[in-house]
Amino acid sequence: MTALTLSTSSAATLRADAIVVGVAKGPKGPVVAPGAEAVDAAFDGKLASVLQTLGASGGEGEATKLPSPAGLKAPVVLAVGLGDLPSDGEGFGEEALRRAAGTAARTLTGTKKAAFALPVPDAESLAAIGEGALLGAYSFTAYRGTDGKKGEADKNAPLAEAAILGAKPRDKAHKAAAERAAAVAGEVNRARDLVNTPSNDLFPKSFAAQAQAAAKEHGLKVEVLDEKALLKGGYGGIMGVGQGSANAPRLVRIGYTHPKAEKTLALVGKGITYDSGGISLKPAGHNETMKCDMSGAAAVFAAVVAVAKLGLAVNVTGWLALAENMPSGTATRPGDVLKMYSGKTVEVLNTDAEGRLVLADALTRASEENPDAIVDVATLTGAMVLALGNRTFGVMANDDAFRAALHEIAEEVGEQAWPMPLPAELRKSMDSPVADLANMGERMGGGLVAGLFLKEFVGEGITWAHLDIAGPAFHESAPYGYTPKGGTGSAVRTLVRLAERTADGDLG
Ligand code: BES
Ligand code: MN
Ligand code: ZN
Repeated sequence: MTALTLSTSSAATLRADAIVVGVAKGPKGPVVAPGAEAVDAAFDGKLASVLQTLGASGGEGEATKLPSPAGLKAPVVLAVGLGDLPSDGEGFGEEALRRAAGTAARTLTGTKKAAFALPVPDAESLAAIGEGALLGAYSFTAYRGTDGKKGEADKNAPLAEAAILGAKPRDKAHKAAAERAAAVAGEVNRARDLVNTPSNDLFPKSFAAQAQAAAKEHGLKVEVLDEKALLKGGYGGIMGVGQGSANAPRLVRIGYTHPKAEKTLALVGKGITYDSGGISLKPAGHNETMKCDMSGAAAVFAAVVAVAKLGLAVNVTGWLALAENMPSGTATRPGDVLKMYSGKTVEVLNTDAEGRLVLADALTRASEENPDAIVDVATLTGAMVLALGNRTFGVMANDDAFRAALHEIAEEVGEQAWPMPLPAELRKSMDSPVADLANMGERMGGGLVAGLFLKEFVGEGITWAHLDIAGPAFHESAPYGYTPKGGTGSAVRTLVRLAERTADGDLG
């Protein structure tokens, strides 16, 4: 991954391949943001007017490359838009800095070292810039053949080093901010790699093997239930979804503990390594990106490792419910009844509503350990994408304060989220004539129906929230800010901040 360094050098004398400066949208044109004073001076104080001449406005997402004037060591200046100039006395928002740094790092693909001369009024701004740079520099190259063309590989190589200017490398808060940014971004990028890895290489067993390797590296406890153990243990939901595939299912428990922890969080991730729909097969046009259906499990796995890297004083247990949903002669049929791990029976009306089946077993299992709270993360419903679009995840919960806290935490870390209800009257649409409930109900409010299904499997009295990340998990259009095409690592940052808040005793 890109290296993140803090530097006290001046923008004028630092050896780098490019200097990144911020430009905001002022009432009368672009305004050069603080941090870029030395660069502006090299332009005789005319950087803003030069940018205006080139058509730059300071709007979010803008990136303008300029050749450096005499007086700057770096050959290129890259001006990135920060959006509207904040009103007097207010600083730039963290998300504006994160996105601008991301745009810069992405634009500088193929560059070795970039110096970021963006506003760093405090440690939070530093963290946002660092995170944005490391996330924006991400690229998934594992499957790119370069046919021995070395030049091609260099051109596509992610930015090798992001040096943040104006930071204080010896300041405790600044050092901690940079370390946190590297740990969190590194794990968001781990989740992205997992999501982007095609299903012929990432299946339940190989996913579990990655969890085992990371557990060894970071001192985590890991347990893997294979298909034999799942069958013996009565995990009818996970087995029912996985039994149609040549790649057998797994349930992974990956646990981080801290000796001073007072609280325990359980995180449960949907890990459908490929969702074909099963016998209720998805039509062409709906299955091309379904390698992304394990994004919830990827987020949970990455968040647990991030918490371990940060050494937070909280226990966090990750549950990865891994299965491949395929049609075959051994697959679950619509109309089949599954006996779930909880003992409840479920009539499978639609084998494409498989996420809730694997999550149900994992939620019951997680509840047995009586954690202080459970959060599940899942690419669960197309209905949530229709409701909230491609960038916002839905937050449902059995506790209003916990739902509000997760929404607030998501906004704080720069993830778009919105609270959704669990209307009790929708539950009866899942009544089944043959089983305790069906895996499908009314189509209207389908995302909430799915949430109500999950709620049935959460242990009595346990605070629980459900994040439906079907929209933001996989980004299909052009990259923006620090968000690349493909896997985004959605929810990792929210889960890590939730763990931090829990460790700090800020939550219930
Ligand atoms: N994995 C899908 C949901 C999904 C859709 C994720 C689009 C990402 C993008 C899920 O398993 C699914 O197929 N859900 C069905 C449920 C329905 C059959 C009740 C859906 O949303 O159509
Ligand atoms: Mn499905
Ligand atoms: Zn699915």
